[in-house]
Amino acid sequence: MIQRILPAASFGGSITLPGDKSISHRYAMIASIAEGDTRISNYSTGADCHSTLGCIAALGVPVEGQGTEYIIHGKGLDGLSAPERDLDAGNSGSTIRMLSGILAGQRFNSRIFGDESLSRRPMQRIMKPLTEMGAHVAAREDKFPPLEIRGGKLRPIEYPLPVPSAQVKTCVLFAGLYAEGETSVTEPVRSRDHTEIALREFGADLVVDRGRIAVKGRPKLTGRDLTVPSDLSSAAFFLVAALLVPHSRVSIRGVGLNPTRSALLDFLAGMGARIRIPDLESAHGELVGEIVAEHSPVRGGTIEGGLTAALIDEIPVLAVLGAASEEGITIKDAGELRIKETDRIRTIVENMRSMGIQAEELADGLVVPGRQRFRAAELDSFGDHRIAMAFAVAALAADGESVIHGAEAASVSFPGFWDVLSGCAEFHN
Ligand code: S3P
Repeated sequence: MIQRILPAASFGGSITLPGDKSISHRYAMIASIAEGDTRISNYSTGADCHSTLGCIAALGVPVEGQGTEYIIHGKGLDGLSAPERDLDAGNSGSTIRMLSGILAGQRFNSRIFGDESLSRRPMQRIMKPLTEMGAHVAAREDKFPPLEIRGGKLRPIEYPLPVPSAQVKTCVLFAGLYAEGETSVTEPVRSRDHTEIALREFGADLVVDRGRIAVKGRPKLTGRDLTVPSDLSSAAFFLVAALLVPHSRVSIRGVGLNPTRSALLDFLAGMGARIRIPDLESAHGELVGEIVAEHSPVRGGTIEGGLTAALIDEIPVLAVLGAASEEGITIKDAGELRIKETDRIRTIVENMRSMGIQAEELADGLVVPGRQRFRAAELDSFGDHRIAMAFAVAALAADGESVIHGAEAASVSFPGFWDVLSGCAEFHN
């Protein structure tokens, strides 16, 4: 699909966005192995989270509902059944990596695969701990999907995470639910903690002590009624659009503001962005609030170390903002960006070059000088949702009509993106 984008004269409105992708995956997966029903409201409409629902249904868990409202009839820790066909994770790294932790604890074998992009993403990071726990995991070339998982009796481990990854942390904690005794993960830098919060909500016995998260095996998990907050990583595109385009003000309600996700807001505020949170409350252990952002010049800055891990999904759109900032943006320690849905360092730089934006590609980062003009261009999503949406935002600030090829990629996390975006934009006469 080709999407045309005109430059915006202003951008704004009061909007709500789809449910958080990370939280939706976790609620659905834990609900499937809890006892009793879990009602989930505002479930992510993204294709990734539907891949998760498809997988748990194939494991014999009845899933009722549509759109954003689902009831998952949990089968308990040992109630999943052997899938009749291979499990399809689609484009979703979270589905394959996190669900593998549950599959490793089953008494049956399963095979899980993904699309072309997912089939190139590394899986050793979960194969290593799962193997240490006693599961057998085979992969194409020993590292890529499809994965063949021969589950069984697992032993608890103490696992220091070699890469900061919430998906790997979750995989090990999920497998730990099936091991007798305590399984722990130690993180080098703190990653998103939705798994810890959700496991507690469902009744697991989990202790967090600084960077160490320990879960007791064989807990009794009980179905719950849950509402997913809106996705801050989706909100990021609208916040940056409002900052970039003159005469703009956007207000987004009900957004998940978990402190392990909200580094984006601190980073933007630190650059001088006019951004505020007029209200904040807690729901099911997650912070939720409204964010208001107004057009403002921003200074630019450096993203490195633990901050890179905390902002990893927002880097494409922050790189775009950086090109319009006063001092530019430097992104370091971001080797993980090369193994996302695309090599995002490469795909950001390619689209920037098309728009006449200078950017220097580093082995594990990017340097984008500030005060640059955005030329209207033919852009490409390269099949990556966050690249499609980040460059849609750039196109709003360009000097003419831009075109994005492969725009349908946005639906991986946000199927309504193009309608919401055009609903917010006022175009020049
Ligand atoms: C996610 C963790 C991050 C992030 C991804 C979602 C999660 O990946 O990029 O979009 O829900 O746990 P890594 O665990 O690979 O860092």
